[in-house]
Amino acid sequence: MQIERLPPVTTSLKPSNHPYLNGAWTPLHEEVNATELVVLSGTIPTDIDGVYLRNTENQVHEPLGRFHPFDGDGMIHQIEFRDGKASYRNRYVRTRGFEAEQEAGASLWGGLADPVQLAKRPGWGAHGSLKDSSSTDVVVHAGKALSTFYQCGEGYRLDPLTLEQEGVAAWVPIDGISAHPKVDEATGELLFFNYSKHAPYLHFGVVGPDNRLKHYQAVETPGPRLPHDMAFSANYAILNDLPVFWDAELLKRNIHVVRKHEGLKSRFALVPRAGGEPIWFEAEPTYVLHWLNAYEEGDEVILDGYFQEDPVPEPHKDALPGFEHMMAFLDQACLKPRLHRWRFNLKTGKTTEQRLDDRTLEFGTFNAKYAGRKYRYVYSTTAEPGWFLFNGFVKSDLETGASTSFTLPKGVYASESPFAPKIGAVDEDDGYLVSFLMDENTGTSECVLLDAKHIEDGPVCRIALPHKICSGTHAVWAGREMLQPA
Ligand SMILES: [Fe+2]
Repeated sequence: MQIERLPPVTTSLKPSNHPYLNGAWTPLHEEVNATELVVLSGTIPTDIDGVYLRNTENQVHEPLGRFHPFDGDGMIHQIEFRDGKASYRNRYVRTRGFEAEQEAGASLWGGLADPVQLAKRPGWGAHGSLKDSSSTDVVVHAGKALSTFYQCGEGYRLDPLTLEQEGVAAWVPIDGISAHPKVDEATGELLFFNYSKHAPYLHFGVVGPDNRLKHYQAVETPGPRLPHDMAFSANYAILNDLPVFWDAELLKRNIHVVRKHEGLKSRFALVPRAGGEPIWFEAEPTYVLHWLNAYEEGDEVILDGYFQEDPVPEPHKDALPGFEHMMAFLDQACLKPRLHRWRFNLKTGKTTEQRLDDRTLEFGTFNAKYAGRKYRYVYSTTAEPGWFLFNGFVKSDLETGASTSFTLPKGVYASESPFAPKIGAVDEDDGYLVSFLMDENTGTSECVLLDAKHIEDGPVCRIALPHKICSGTHAVWAGREMLQPA
């Protein structure tokens, strides 16, 4: 393996016992380019062509208050596959906040778990006092990577091959964009939403394949809400108003406490993608962190996602003192997300719901070529009880109800693992799941490919990475055809 190391960044982070600054969540402070990657087992397939991009959260400076893992600075890790070869590189996202803290040599903003008064400068997004660390997700649209932040940040563009930084996307509105804009590969559009603390609280927008804003509208809610994700079908964007959001009384004092609002239903806005009045539906109360696909069939719009049984869990009894609340909200075993289907009937206005799996599953992916269309296969991740760490995969056949799974060895954790179609794919599941692993037994990371038809067989190829990466939240696969500039 040939490794070129970039000049180091300035860091002031000190060792601590914080559960999310150690182990698989140890921040990485190194940027490299690596070629001639070593294949640990199997061979790199020649029928995979494109890039896997992984965003991670890496705290650079000593936190001002109580660190939360979603506060760390965004870092994009990329592996490129072509002709049976692979190369790797990683870069911090050079956000305005990252650059300001590099200059200061210290943290300038508190985090999600801190009072707003800790911020030394105005912050970004719906919360208003946080650093936009652009660390949550990354998508590829109009030939460029776009990194995003869950509290609604600016959206930073990078070249998906070189990871050269191109700054903030020009079309991002004043209220920012949420972590999960959605790319429709069929139309080349990017669909996004944002949320804020001021009326009308929620907006929906569309960016064309030319990277220009083509539509932006309000989708009014009764007050500030905390939607995390959206979905789309061929004709509708699906936004949500779920009964888990900031306590309104405390919010008047600029205190951000999430609670479940008893008596309120879940509400879904089906917004015509070209713009227009939303069609609202009601459903059972829950919170949903991530949706899967949506599609239209007859009079119905069908939406799949992960229904949380307990969106505001009790504090974790086993956690280190002071971490009980944070550990519970980061533990899928506490939140209990279940694979779930909502059917919105456009003729009757009624919603019907169906539980598809009783296991704790989240962070799912599917073949993006089927986005907005009827699809059959979902690939979810399983979580290590007690931790925000992925320890395996479940493939669900939504047509037959059958499923297969693969569990990683103890102490080995996965990254979100999108589906990469094979060149010349015929079946929906002709492809690979791509993931970066963090191995706590060896202190190393590797990239693995699983044959999506047989995930139960485990990796078909394992490729060594030049350093151990930090865990994080989201990742994306972009085939070669997605890498053409607009
Ligand atoms: Fe997310």
